[in-house]
Amino acid sequence: MDWGIENRLSRIIKPETGRSVMLAVDHGYFMGPTHRLEEPRKTIEPLLPYADALMLTRGVLRTSVDPKASVPIVLRVSGGASIVGKDLTNEQLTTSIRAAIRLNIAAVAMSIFVGSEHEHQTLTNLGKLVSDAEDYGIPVLAVTAVGKELEKRDSRYLALSCRVAAEIGAHFVKTYYCDDFEKVVRGCPVPLVVAGGPKLETEMDAFQLAHDAIGQGAVGVDMGRNIWQSDHPVAMIRAIREIVHEEASVREAKEVFEEAKKTSEPVLAKMSAR
Ligand code: R5P
Repeated sequence: MDWGIENRLSRIIKPETGRSVMLAVDHGYFMGPTHRLEEPRKTIEPLLPYADALMLTRGVLRTSVDPKASVPIVLRVSGGASIVGKDLTNEQLTTSIRAAIRLNIAAVAMSIFVGSEHEHQTLTNLGKLVSDAEDYGIPVLAVTAVGKELEKRDSRYLALSCRVAAEIGAHFVKTYYCDDFEKVVRGCPVPLVVAGGPKLETEMDAFQLAHDAIGQGAVGVDMGRNIWQSDHPVAMIRAIREIVHEEASVREAKEVFEEAKKTSEPVLAKMSAR
């Protein structure tokens, strides 16, 4: 692998464990001011010390992250649709590779919508992004987005999407956890990280998801809502780190969460203190 790509990837997927806890805060690019991400800086700042990488758009990076921060940036460079528009899958590349390089990013990310009306457009855009990014030694994360069609969250569909992304040249892939997840991992020759998806009922559910995904071969998580929509986001990310990097069980992660809760301020108090 190209030295630059390998070097940048190793800033995200930590060589010590071969794993990564990526913090996803890119939701506003199609969801607007999502619950508990209304003021991105307030959400991001307390979590930064615990994130191996931060996934976001250039707008939130420039307005809401201190340029002195050393966290590797995975920059979302696709968009062009919103939750109130006609079709969430109608995305194009929204940020050039030149603009991404200026922001000193570690990787770029874009969504592909396999099986949708815009399958062809998003897949050929992925090919273009990979070719452009490789010219500069920058790795590409393909996001196997499913949009509103959550029924597609099965191993057959996700294995297809992940494999297609890898074949086009993505250097790592973000997907969803599903039953028979091993099948998705087996068919994908590049590292996989899992999204958390909409907030689950309990913290234990999120720990279980991370634990099962790691146990079945994911190299980490790229998690958003299950961390920052929690009443205790810092405790959440610390517990998730234990699972990803320390092989903690779900019960051990819960213990870490309960312990960390004692020392971290609940989010409700913090957000209302303006
Ligand atoms: C979706 O495509 C967005 O890129 C999010 O980054 C992704 O869904 C991960 O966040 P969450 O864990 O909230 O699903």
